[in-house]
Amino acid sequence: MDNLNQNTQREQWGSKIGFILAASGSAVGLGNLWKFPYMAGRNGGGAFVLVYFIILFLIGFTLMLAEITLGRHTQLNAIGAYKKISKKWAWVGGLGVLAGFIILSFYSVVGGWVINYIIKSLTGAINIADPEILGGMFGALVGGTVEPIVYHGIFMLMTMIIVLGGIGGGIEKSSKILMPGLFIMIIIIAIRAMTLPGAIEGIKYLLIPNFEAINIGVVLDALGQVFFSLSLGMGCMITYGSYLSKDTNIPESATVIPLIDTGVALLAGLIVMPAVFAFGFEPGGGPGLLFITLPAIFAQMPLGTVFAILFFFLVLFAALSSSISLLEVCVAYVVDEWKINRKVAVFGLGFVMFLIGVVASLSNGPLSHVTFIGERNFFDSLDFVASNILLPLGGLLLCIAVGWIWGTDEALAEATNDGKIEFKLAPLWIFLVKYVGPIAIAIVFIRSLM
Ligand code: PFF
Repeated sequence: MDNLNQNTQREQWGSKIGFILAASGSAVGLGNLWKFPYMAGRNGGGAFVLVYFIILFLIGFTLMLAEITLGRHTQLNAIGAYKKISKKWAWVGGLGVLAGFIILSFYSVVGGWVINYIIKSLTGAINIADPEILGGMFGALVGGTVEPIVYHGIFMLMTMIIVLGGIGGGIEKSSKILMPGLFIMIIIIAIRAMTLPGAIEGIKYLLIPNFEAINIGVVLDALGQVFFSLSLGMGCMITYGSYLSKDTNIPESATVIPLIDTGVALLAGLIVMPAVFAFGFEPGGGPGLLFITLPAIFAQMPLGTVFAILFFFLVLFAALSSSISLLEVCVAYVVDEWKINRKVAVFGLGFVMFLIGVVASLSNGPLSHVTFIGERNFFDSLDFVASNILLPLGGLLLCIAVGWIWGTDEALAEATNDGKIEFKLAPLWIFLVKYVGPIAIAIVFIRSLM
């Protein structure tokens, strides 16, 4: 219970913009750059984007505000925060820490592939126009034994080194460099993609909704994507919010972060879709889109090698600013609750995650025949458990914890700095967090189990 005393020395973000950059750095990741364009491509383009926007406002904004507010109120990690509003709810934070632990184990493997692709683009190895050769090259990497593990180790090490620096020195400082770099690069590449001959068809596909394409499947996919992309449901924003000072404008932050996240996802879509249409690929190309189709597109573009290098650096930046948040959720818990030294926590947790990631990596190659949940290999099983079970469940319980246990009056007092900040949408937020959020997330959760 000496958490309160400890809080007087708790580190804080150095500036408001530092928090916004770090939190949007967490949100913007492989989910935006790789998953959003592929999900949009698979779900009718503009139809998906329209539904995504509606859900973003209803659920994304609501949960973002709830998580940041709970974090700042309690000034604690995910588990400590739930424990503080009700002892019985500590396990909900535990689910979140577990989700972070599991997600980072496989996220780091993908981060390793990205590092490998930076090297491949620097040496010109992926400067090939033939998607089949690129497909073989990608398969050889992910199906390998030692190579993907080495790159996974490098990615995990980079994540640990940044998190080791702490809040002000590590996460905030790196986000201040990584995030603006990311914006500049993605805008340049999007402009290039959108000025390709034939690009207009891709822009139309992404931005003009075909209402007939909207069905329950599209709605549910968009809901799940909002959830994962905004880093919600596992206490990440609780943890980041816990380092906020009491005078921050939470409603404003909770609006800006989802907007930045969506802006990057849209820009990623405006890179992938115009290029896909310009070069005659399939919009629903799926998981291979990033690593197979895009290099093929770059290879056929003037200055393509430069764009390929820029793009994979951009993906690495985005993945790192998300992975540091995943590690921080777990580190904050161990440091706060177990009173363990930060350095020990970072290296201990990072090492165990690395080991789990080794198995995940091998499960795409030598261990691919070993299945765990259904037909899924270990890698896909980790993703399934975290993304399809723990995150939706965490979000659903967050709505109940904030809306019904802690109470919206208390939450709003915190969010508005005791009424000092005007928050006109407060009545709407109450309705969303108490009713719409839990019901909508329950639908995603149930569907994800089907
Ligand atoms: N939002 C990240 C992405 O879109 O890649 C992934 C993620 C990070 C999910 C942090 C959850 C989280 F807590």
